[in-house]
Amino acid sequence: MPLLIRARLLTFLAEPQAPDDHASYRYEEDGALLIEDGVIQAVGSYSEVSARVGADIRVVDHRPHLVMPGFIDAHAHLPQMQVIGSFGAELLDWLNTYTFPAETEFSNVAHAERIAACFLDELTRHGTTTVAAYCSVHPQSAEALFAEAERRNMCIVAGKVMMDRNAPDGLRDTAQSGYDETKALIERWHGKSRLHYAISPRFAITSTPEQMAAAQALAAEYPHLHIQTHLSENKAEIEFACSLFPEAKDYTDIYARYGLVGPKSLFGHCVHLQEREADALSEAGAVAVFCPTSNLFLGSGLFNYFGYKRREKSLRIAAATDVGGGTNYSMLRTMDEGYKVITLQGEKIPPLLSYWQITRGNAEALSLGHRIGALEVGKDADLVVLDASATSPMRLRMEKARSLAEELFILQTMGDDRNVVETYVAGRPVKPA
Ligand code: GUN
Ligand code: ZN
Repeated sequence: MPLLIRARLLTFLAEPQAPDDHASYRYEEDGALLIEDGVIQAVGSYSEVSARVGADIRVVDHRPHLVMPGFIDAHAHLPQMQVIGSFGAELLDWLNTYTFPAETEFSNVAHAERIAACFLDELTRHGTTTVAAYCSVHPQSAEALFAEAERRNMCIVAGKVMMDRNAPDGLRDTAQSGYDETKALIERWHGKSRLHYAISPRFAITSTPEQMAAAQALAAEYPHLHIQTHLSENKAEIEFACSLFPEAKDYTDIYARYGLVGPKSLFGHCVHLQEREADALSEAGAVAVFCPTSNLFLGSGLFNYFGYKRREKSLRIAAATDVGGGTNYSMLRTMDEGYKVITLQGEKIPPLLSYWQITRGNAEALSLGHRIGALEVGKDADLVVLDASATSPMRLRMEKARSLAEELFILQTMGDDRNVVETYVAGRPVKPA
């Protein structure tokens, strides 16, 4: 039966160019979405949309809450759910001390399946309906995540990481096995339901030149797939990576030499890029993924969001949690920390731009804008229902809110999963209890 959702609706048409760029979004105070077969069939004012539907319809009234496209997290690690909040280390020590041991456990199928369900529960609890996820090196971890996402009919991008050096026993593949296992996973999962495979060499430090060549071969065989990896997060990491590939001009050039820099390449972090590297990413149409909670938590540095946007050769940017270097599943918490990172560099990201980023902006950065990220006819009905007055301090603060932008900013600054009233995936309510 078709579903009619009545609520306040907000969706972006384009990237906001100013704090008050009212032409960049569409807002309906009393709006409605008509959903059938998981797809938005009509959107507009309640009076318009309801006039067009018959009696045989289920109506859910979410007023006075705000419905937006479901949030999109462009970079998170499935096997790091039990790593979040590990004390005291910068990137390379943090990986060796906490992260690699935790990821080793994902050889166990039961563990991988349990955590995959928890991962998608947490994402949807926080209003996130699409994630670009790293699994562990074990193909069974990617199996578990794809199977769970398929069961929930979620649109995700994911891949098993390829890593064949500088990692402990039990957490390495080989150039050949990484290639074979990735290929088998692509054949089994990519394009099935709403699933997308990302070729995922973890980063240059954990792949030999032979494995980088294997990733290159996969990228050449499957040119439409995403590629995800890490780039220029931490000074010691950059130095180590460049020492392992002395022929490369810089860190970005390591990936470029192996054909891994293109419009579907997602580069986590990009905190310390040199101008040449930013030019190279821009020319390739590659995406720099901003992970503010992680960059602050691990002390990696400050991502230059507006500098990258405004440079002559501008960068495509996505935003992400980077759980478990990142400290929260919420894209609201993520953009709150993002606001602070940008503030420390003397600028302000306006709320409209933040919410564009985590919806339509991230959808476009993931080359998924034709399916998700907007409340438009023909797009998948992935939604988040938000209540900016869900907690008592927020209710009090909201008494003084005078505009939509102010409401959004309060939600971002103070909000989390308690403000997510419901999450819809392909038209079905899925927020866990
Ligand atoms: N670089 C390589 N692997 C990782 C990871 O798991 N997390 C972060 N933050 N950076 C990385
Ligand atoms: Zn990461």
